[in-house]
Amino acid sequence: MTQFSIVVPTLNESENIDLLLTRIFALNIPFDKFEVIFVDDGSNDGTPEKIRTWQKYSNIHLIERHGKPDLATSILQGAGAARSDIIVVMDADLSHPHEQLNALVTPILKDQYDVVIGSRYIKGGRTLDWPFYRRLLSRVGGWLARPFCDVSDATSGFFAFRRELAATVSEQAHGYKILLEILMANDSTLRIKEIPICFRDRAYGTSKLSFPHQLAYLQRLLTLAGGKVSRNTAGRFAIVGLLGVVVDTLVFQWMISRDAGLALAHFVSFFFAVSVNYALNSKWAFNEHHTGHLQWLQFSRFLIVGALALLLRGGVLALFVYVGHVPPSLAIFPAIIATAFINYLGSAFYVFPAEKNPPSSNMRWRVAALGVVLFCILLRLIYLGLAQLIPDEAYYWQYAQHMDLSFYDHPPMVAWLIWMGTAILGNNEAGVRVGAFICSLIAMGYLYAYAKNLHDKATALRTLMIFSVLPLGFASGFFMTPDAPLVAAWIATLYFMERALVADQRSAWLGMGVAFGLGLLSKYTLSLLGLAALVFVIIDAGARRWIWRSHPYLAVTLALIIFSPVLIWNFQHEWVSFMFQSTRHVSNDGQFSVHYLLIYIMILLTPVGFVAAMQILFSRNYRDMGVSQHMLKDRKRLFVQIVTGVPFFIFLVFSIFDHPKFHWTGPVWLAVLPTIAWMIGQTGNLEKFTKWLQKAWRPTIGACMFAYALILHYVVLGIPGAPYHLFTEHYFWRETTREVEQIVEEVRQLTGQEPVIVGMSKWSIASSLYFYNHARGNLDIRSRNLFGDSGAMYNFWFPAQYPINRPIIQVGMKPVHLEQIREGDNLKQMLIHPDEIKYRNIYRNGIFLRQIYYRISAGLH
Ligand code: GDD
Ligand code: MN
Repeated sequence: MTQFSIVVPTLNESENIDLLLTRIFALNIPFDKFEVIFVDDGSNDGTPEKIRTWQKYSNIHLIERHGKPDLATSILQGAGAARSDIIVVMDADLSHPHEQLNALVTPILKDQYDVVIGSRYIKGGRTLDWPFYRRLLSRVGGWLARPFCDVSDATSGFFAFRRELAATVSEQAHGYKILLEILMANDSTLRIKEIPICFRDRAYGTSKLSFPHQLAYLQRLLTLAGGKVSRNTAGRFAIVGLLGVVVDTLVFQWMISRDAGLALAHFVSFFFAVSVNYALNSKWAFNEHHTGHLQWLQFSRFLIVGALALLLRGGVLALFVYVGHVPPSLAIFPAIIATAFINYLGSAFYVFPAEKNPPSSNMRWRVAALGVVLFCILLRLIYLGLAQLIPDEAYYWQYAQHMDLSFYDHPPMVAWLIWMGTAILGNNEAGVRVGAFICSLIAMGYLYAYAKNLHDKATALRTLMIFSVLPLGFASGFFMTPDAPLVAAWIATLYFMERALVADQRSAWLGMGVAFGLGLLSKYTLSLLGLAALVFVIIDAGARRWIWRSHPYLAVTLALIIFSPVLIWNFQHEWVSFMFQSTRHVSNDGQFSVHYLLIYIMILLTPVGFVAAMQILFSRNYRDMGVSQHMLKDRKRLFVQIVTGVPFFIFLVFSIFDHPKFHWTGPVWLAVLPTIAWMIGQTGNLEKFTKWLQKAWRPTIGACMFAYALILHYVVLGIPGAPYHLFTEHYFWRETTREVEQIVEEVRQLTGQEPVIVGMSKWSIASSLYFYNHARGNLDIRSRNLFGDSGAMYNFWFPAQYPINRPIIQVGMKPVHLEQIREGDNLKQMLIHPDEIKYRNIYRNGIFLRQIYYRISAGLH
């Protein structure tokens, strides 16, 4: 009985036929076990004749085609003619190692796998003699396919598969990548094995791979991913888009010429352009099958994509105008290009997706994940240098101006990162924040690996989506606070911890030691994860044996060495920072705050994320959620529950007695994200509640993206019609600093003395003034520690010395902040000749922002 059929497509390969068949026959596989089917596409160099000379052997067959040559359909035709159930595809030009035919076929014969791929891009695989550009092309092609299928070499031409899979390939398939068609049409349902091969460049004849094939590859890739991309639609979309560009620029220029302001001008011009676009796109460009109903759904999706594109392009516009100093009338063009890009992808995949052969829900989630992750990265990248610093960031920036081994209220990592960022990009918002951005990329790398180890690659991709879009992930990757490096280190620690404790990998302890040490340098909270590891080791029998081995202890030692700067600093400073961390919590008023804790978690995770996390944390078995298949191994489930549950429990107990800060539990939820993402992708017979939760994710994700884009646009460019003074008491310090500089100048004129400015808060006002005055550097700024209160690091940088016989300018966000720090205070007594409290209005481009309160005195007793 024929066990497998080798399908060999040929197009002008006459010199290779003899060699190929000789080599195959030399393998000494019994003749009745296999057949070779050549599929020739009208070669004119005598290839068919060559093959016919071999047809004396009953297992050599030739199919001759005379239409337009196409590799994919040739292979399908060959598979259709096969007499066996296993198809091996192989090039005729001796590029593929015939010795590995058996290795390719055997796993399928044994029914262990459905597809076996001869892979160049896994360990042991190689490509010989290919010129650089071919390698590069092949690599790029491979990387593009990565998010959509879980193999390393999706473009290999040497692979074996079950014949029935040929039926799953779309009739539209064409071009070179038949393997990709099979993989993507059966997303996540196949058992796939990759074996390393060495690919050799052909010795005779020439390659037939051409540029149109590469275009076809791209087009098929996008189509298989669910996008509506034919040459037709792309061309029409481009024409419509061009028309939109014309409308957009004309209206924009007109608005600008009438002094409308950037935000209003680009909103209005966008609105006009988009109306034209939508009308034409739905009627013409994407309209292959017109379905009268459901237009409203389409339209609302169009609005979502449009809104996201609009809010992002505001950032591009601002970047060119404010940072690049390009005139608005030119800056609108790159902004439009960015919009067009988002609009096109959004239209092709989301607004007008393919109706024929719709992709599986798993595939749709992959595409969605990719889109969401890229959008969130782009949004951050564009806005991170535009949005002004929040006071916390200004304070940590000031850490970096006084570089040290550690600091009073936080370990030093945040300062080191800001120091590096500003050394490269300068003392501006981008320099401060770039470290947070990079931390989030590192976090995503480890999160992907962690999720892949717990579940699978499609889940890992969704995990990145959840991470990018939840406030916890988005904010920690934008603001430069200790949480940015903490989140990265927390995930890295989790990743290594799972490898060490669950997968039993000795070498993972090394990584764990490093990640844990770096994490402790970021924020002490990470120690809770260490505690969780301990609990897991005690509970889990498999992990318990690590107690008797040296690795964990070496890891702890390593972490301590990395952490040593903090120890040294504290040793030099009478252990103040540890005292501060341990006493500040107990000394408070002992209020029951569990409800606050829960509300804060709902902010960090969104309500839907909160419910999902609790569901996973407290279910004893995922079957409770109605998921029976692909059940997580019990140990993995236990791991996730403990590394989430233990730190959560500690915060919970804490909140019974005291008020937690809202971001404290943030990193705790990282461990559970993969399981949340996994639940999102489950299909089949699910519990009602689980199904409802799955559905709720879509609006949640959309709302989050919209909210971030809206807020960023609002603080950078404004939203036409929306006032500023609603939430800006703590923000807009650039404009506020200008106003304070004015006040100082007036006092200088009046008194002839250099005044001392006292920010009437612990550090936020002083630091913000510092940062935004930095370029001028002409203010003498202190914090409220001058009034006997703690100013955190200000106590070290600027210890209070009395009396002060220079003018004092107190600056505060509220009048009461200038009068008292604690109830019953009377700060006025300490001042020499205090004036009345006054205020100034702060404006930004003529729009009212906020007020700032101040009082001038002659000095401080
Ligand atoms: N029937 C038929 N019709 N056969 C064709 C056609 C066609 O239109 N085009 C090419 N072939 C045959 C060739 O005769 C050869 O046997 C095999 O398909 C591969 O073609 P090459 O032209 O040698 O392709 P390549 O070496 O550049 O590309 C190889 O590596 C790629 C990986 O980057 C192939 O294995 C590709 O499938 C693979 O994707
Ligand atoms: Mn070749």
